[in-house]
This record gives sequence, structure tokens and C-alpha cells, in this order.
Amino acid sequence: MPVRALRLGVNIDHVATLRNARGGLHPDPLRAAHLAIEGGADGITAHLREDRRHISDTDITRLKNELTRPLNLEMAATEEMQRIALRHVPNACCLVPERREERTTEGGLDVRGAAETLKPYVAKLRDAGIRVSLFIEPDLKTIEAAAAVGADIVELHTGRYCNLALEHDVAGVAREIERHRMAASAAASAGLEVHAGHGLTYNTVKPIAALPEIVELNIGHFLIGEAIFGGLSMAVRRMRVLMDEARESVTAAASRAQ
Ligand code: PXP
Repeated sequence: MPVRALRLGVNIDHVATLRNARGGLHPDPLRAAHLAIEGGADGITAHLREDRRHISDTDITRLKNELTRPLNLEMAATEEMQRIALRHVPNACCLVPERREERTTEGGLDVRGAAETLKPYVAKLRDAGIRVSLFIEPDLKTIEAAAAVGADIVELHTGRYCNLALEHDVAGVAREIERHRMAASAAASAGLEVHAGHGLTYNTVKPIAALPEIVELNIGHFLIGEAIFGGLSMAVRRMRVLMDEARESVTAAASRAQ
């Protein structure tokens, strides 16, 4: 069977984190989304959190109206978020567990424990033409439950694997890759599309990208961090030019006046 192409969804939440640190409009997540697409992103992911700590409602409206690639709206399975999703009809919604005090999405969705509420919730989004993804641990029972509640997609949470890689835990990394391999295969056999993400970096992406059932990776924090290193010297150079030009023109005016 031919191996399917692997898409990249770029999560732009942390452009908004930086913008919100000053409360203004810069840096603009939509501009970052356009640049990510220019760089090869197949889609854009944004997480509208209950506390709006990064992405705002206005960001979602602008992304939905102006993006040239699919929008994947990450959200908690709440009524408020469902109303917002049904208003915008993004290409996909990825349902994630959300706790106010967490720094990022810790752990996957408890699909088995919430199956009764998730089933109609998923159905309502799907009826509106939205593809529904569940962000889960790479766990076989959870995959069965995801298929049973009618999801189109599961996104495997790679956070634990990435943390073990950071700790140089070779055995732990091998165990996690194997868990992802088995989970991806089981999910695909259950008719689910398989995505993965969380914490992926240049160092950790390859073993996950090599799993043939996975067709999309969603990556955010590391890429936004790397973009600073890729772009900082260029930004400083441009500022330097503007400052020097301004100085040269006053110096020239002062010498004409003498
Ligand atoms: N996928 C999901 C469902 C997430 O919640 C996140 C984090 O917002 C990501 C992918 C991306 O994780 P990271 O920012 O660590 O690359």
C-alpha cells in the first residue's frame, strides 16, 4: 500500500502569547500564519482557550476568513466552544482536555470516561461539516472509545515521548515510539485518520514522522521559538539601517547648516 503524504499543521498560539504580553496588535498571529504557509505548512492550528490567554475570538474570525489553508480549531469540549465552532465552521476541531492552571495541554482526553457526552457533541460538529479530532494518549482502549464516539481523527499526544527524549531516557523513548507505532496502526485499522503532536522538535520529529499511518503533525512552541533565532539578526539589521539612515540625514542637514 502506498504511504500517504505527511501534512504539517503549524500552531500559532505563541505568536499570540507574545502579542498579549504587550496587549497590542504586534506580532500578529495571522501574519505568522501566512508566513508558515509560505514556508510549507499545510494548515494552521489555533487553540482558543477558555481564559483566552493567547488566541482571541477575533483571531479565530480573522484566521477563518483570511487563511488560504485549512484551520484546525483546538478547543475544550464545552458548550461555549461548540457555539463558536458552529459559527465559524473550521475545517477541523481538535477536542482537548483543558485545565485553567496548566501551562499547556497536559495529557490526552479521557474519551472512555466522557463517552456519553462526547458522542452527541462530536455528532453536532460533524453534522455541521466539521471534521472532529480527539487529542488522546497513544492508548489502545482510548482509540476504541474514540472510534465509538464517532470521531474522524485521533491526534496522538507525543508529549511524554518528547519529555523522555529531553531526559535522554533511551529505553523510555523506545517504549514510547513503540506505543505510538501500535496506536497509529490500531487507529488506522479502526478507520480513524491519525495525527500526532505536542512538544515535537527537530530532534524528536523523525521517529514520529516515520510512522506510516500518521498523516499530520501539529507543531507549535518549538517552531515559534526557532523563528526567533532564524529571524532576530535580520530584524536587528533592519532596525540598525533605519537608525543609521535617520542619523545620516540629521548629520547631513547639520553640516549643510554650517
Ligand atoms: N496538538 C495539540 C492538540 C496541542 O494541544 C498542542 C499544544 O497546543 C500541539 C499539538 C502543539 O504542541 P507544541 O506547541 O508543543 O508543538
